[in-house]
Amino acid sequence: MKTTLRLPATEDGIAEAAALLRDGDLVAFPTETVYGLGGDATSDRAVLGIYAAKDRPAHNPLIVHVPDLVHARAYAVFTPLAEALARAFWPGPLTLLLPLRKGAGLSPHITAGRSKVAIRVPAHPLTLALLRAADRPLAGPSANPSGRISPTAADHVLDGLSGKIAAVLDGGPCAVGLESTIIDPSDPPRLLRPGGLPPEALAEVLTLPATPAAADPHHPEAPGQLSSHYAPQAALRLGVSSPAPDEIWIGFGPTDRTPALTLSSHGDLAEAATRLFATLREADRIAGPEGRIAIAPIPNTGLGLAINDRLSRAAAPRS
Ligand code: TXA
Ligand code: MG
Repeated sequence: MKTTLRLPATEDGIAEAAALLRDGDLVAFPTETVYGLGGDATSDRAVLGIYAAKDRPAHNPLIVHVPDLVHARAYAVFTPLAEALARAFWPGPLTLLLPLRKGAGLSPHITAGRSKVAIRVPAHPLTLALLRAADRPLAGPSANPSGRISPTAADHVLDGLSGKIAAVLDGGPCAVGLESTIIDPSDPPRLLRPGGLPPEALAEVLTLPATPAAADPHHPEAPGQLSSHYAPQAALRLGVSSPAPDEIWIGFGPTDRTPALTLSSHGDLAEAATRLFATLREADRIAGPEGRIAIAPIPNTGLGLAINDRLSRAAAPRS
């Protein structure tokens, strides 16, 4: 087992991360949403290495990260609506699912044999600097073992993947804290995953149902949206205003009883999103594997839709 390096957010750190990536090694990188498990998206060795390091099912494709729309057009076919969304929200927490441009050089394992590729331009200066220094499109699923809680800090990445990847570029905590919103802008456009792009911002360009269309379990459009995901070790109970004495209670907003932890004491959904995964990790640590976590109701509006999506999967029966 190799030692995973923690690289600083400096010019040298970026250069070392880029060199590792160009050699086909795996480097986790920060984005505004969560940390991604980066690998050269044109290298079969790197892409297969990502599936292995995460223990990710081979049928679950990977998002490609590029530094700008011009690079994105090299790998995906843009319609006018796709262009409008990219211009409005890139760089930012939006992933577009678009027809793959064949022969553009992506490893076939990126799309797991599908005809569409998921692509995004992240809004984090460090990620953009890394993408330019590496001069490669980077595959980047969330940098956690498959099915577990997504990482919003370099320590979370090391908790799950230490010894399995070459390095993590440490950019501190992620500002948004929830994965990107995924949209397929074909006709009719579809929301595949609610995420870090607030629905009210999206509505300025495109009106979509606030929750994803029910997925066909046999042919899911985004196979990663399987029911159990983001799971702590402890059992998780949702919408709880009166926790049992043995439950570690996570609050939201002002409450009569004092919670063990809170997503936002003044009920701010953006703050709750930023803190969600780190708070679940902390509750899990306190509760222990046989323990129980309960979480207060979160309003199902704005970023609350994506928070509740993650929580319902975190609480789903484990397979
Ligand atoms: O914010 C994010 O999107 C983060 C950061 C690192 O960019 N990445 C991320 O990747 O959340 P991941 O792999 O954890 O989630 C990607 C989701 C999965 O549900 C996957 O099934 C879906 O996107 N997906 C990726 N490529 C796809 C494709 N070609 N067709 C359908 N679904 C795809
Ligand atoms: Mg993930």
